Formats: sequence, C-alpha cells, structure tokens
Amino acid sequence: MQVGKSFFLRYLCQQHLESFVKALAISFPQLETTRLILREYHLDETDQMALFRIFSDSRVTRYYNLKTFTEPAEALNLLHKRYDRFWQGRGVRWAIVPKGHDELIGSCGFNAINYKTKVGELGYELARPYWQRGIMTEAVTAAIGYGVAHLPLQRIEAWVMPENHASANLLLKLGFQSEGILEKKGYWDGRFHDLELFSLLAEQWRD
Ligand SMILES: CC(C)(COP(=O)(O)OP(=O)(O)OC[C@H]1O[C@@H](n2cnc3c(N)ncnc32)[C@H](O)[C@@H]1OP(=O)(O)O)[C@@H](O)C(=O)NCCC(=O)NCCS
Repeated sequence: MQVGKSFFLRYLCQQHLESFVKALAISFPQLETTRLILREYHLDETDQMALFRIFSDSRVTRYYNLKTFTEPAEALNLLHKRYDRFWQGRGVRWAIVPKGHDELIGSCGFNAINYKTKVGELGYELARPYWQRGIMTEAVTAAIGYGVAHLPLQRIEAWVMPENHASANLLLKLGFQSEGILEKKGYWDGRFHDLELFSLLAEQWRD
C-alpha cells in the first residue's frame, strides 16, 4: 500500500513538472544534419519496437551497460526513461531518424547533465545495419554542437569499455582525449567492468 502511494505521488509530481516545463513553452530541441533528424522519442509502439530491435541485437549490447533485450517490455521501459530524462531536466537523448523515414535507427545524447559544473555525459548506439557509414559522427557532432552552444556544457565525458574500439575511435575522431582507464568503474550484469574515460572541453570543440 505504502509503495503504491509513493509511486502515485512521484507520478503526480512528474506530471506537474512536465506540465510546468511545457507551460514555460520549453520544447524538445529537434536537430537536423545533412542526412538525419534528431528528434524526441515518441511514446508509441513504433519507437518501442524499433528500440527493441536495436537492443535485442547482441552486437549492439556487447560493450553496453545493458543486457541484450529479450522482451519488448524492456524497450518500453527504456523508452520512458529516455523520454522522461528531458522533461525532468536530467539530460537529453535524441532518437536518430534518417531523413525521409520516421523509424529510429539509433540514439545519442547526454544521459546526465550537471548544470552546476556544466558537465554532460555522452551516450549513443546505432542499429547494426547502419554502422560505419559516418552516421554517428554526424549525429554526435550535432548533439555536441547543441550541448556546447545551448546547455551550455563546458566539459563532455564518455565512458567506454576498453575493448570497444568503434566507440573509442568515434570519440577520438571527434576530438576527445582519453583520460585513462578506471578499473572496475562500472557494475552491471552481475560484475564489475573497467571503463575508459574520454573527455572534450568546450574550447576544444570545432564544429
Ligand atoms: C560506436 C558506434 C555508435 C559507431 O557508430 P558508426 O556510425 O558506425 O560510427 P562512424 O561510422 O561515424 O565512425 C566513426 C569512426 O569510428 C571508427 N569506427 C567505427 N566503427 C568501427 C569499428 N567497427 N571498428 C573500428 N573503428 C570503427 C572509425 O575510425 C570511424 O571513422 P572513419 O570511418 O572516418 O575512419 C556503433 O559501432 C555502435 O552503435 N556500437 C554499439 C553500441 C555502443 O557500443 N555504443 C557505445 C557505448 S560506449
């Protein structure tokens, strides 16, 4: 009973916060690049199933702090978390959609933003068929540009498993620097993982 009440109160607060933010006429910042639209997640079955297809592929989750999805309900949960993050003022996660389609093929954005220290934590993933075509370079370039200009972030961090060469190379290509490997920094799936910290400062960013 107690759990039910606290859940209901939290839900109410969240609804109020979202209405309040919307009343201030704040809207989700949609971005556009040459080939892509970076839009807000839609709380519907199309986005849920697209997210499920991406995260049920073990090649995508191999170096990711999430287990490979086996149930569409897991995708629905993630969809809500990512959607809420913006309206709760905790971060911003864009759904990546190729121009001319509406099906999302990946996502990028800031999982967490510390507005006091102006630090944003970058995250991203792309459906396997779209890898190695420069898509994430294009999407993350837009996300960082927005982060530096509008949030405004002073420092952007990304945490990468040392074996994840695709992710490390993407960051290096964008101008990030490695600050070293932190042993057992991450914990998921029942065990600890070493993580490499990459960073980029606003003054180093050349769009
Ligand atoms: C990491 C990821 C988003 C890269 O997306 P992408 O669109 O394929 O990346 P890009 O095509 O923009 O490539 C950018 C650079 O990364 C490097 N790169 C990309 N894929 C690579 C691979 N499989 N192996 C080695 N380097 C790779 C290349 O240096 C490339 O630049 P170049 O083509 O000019 O040489 C994609 O591999 C992915 O979704 N992986 C699974 C999810 C994941 O691990 N997310 C990050 C968690 S920290």
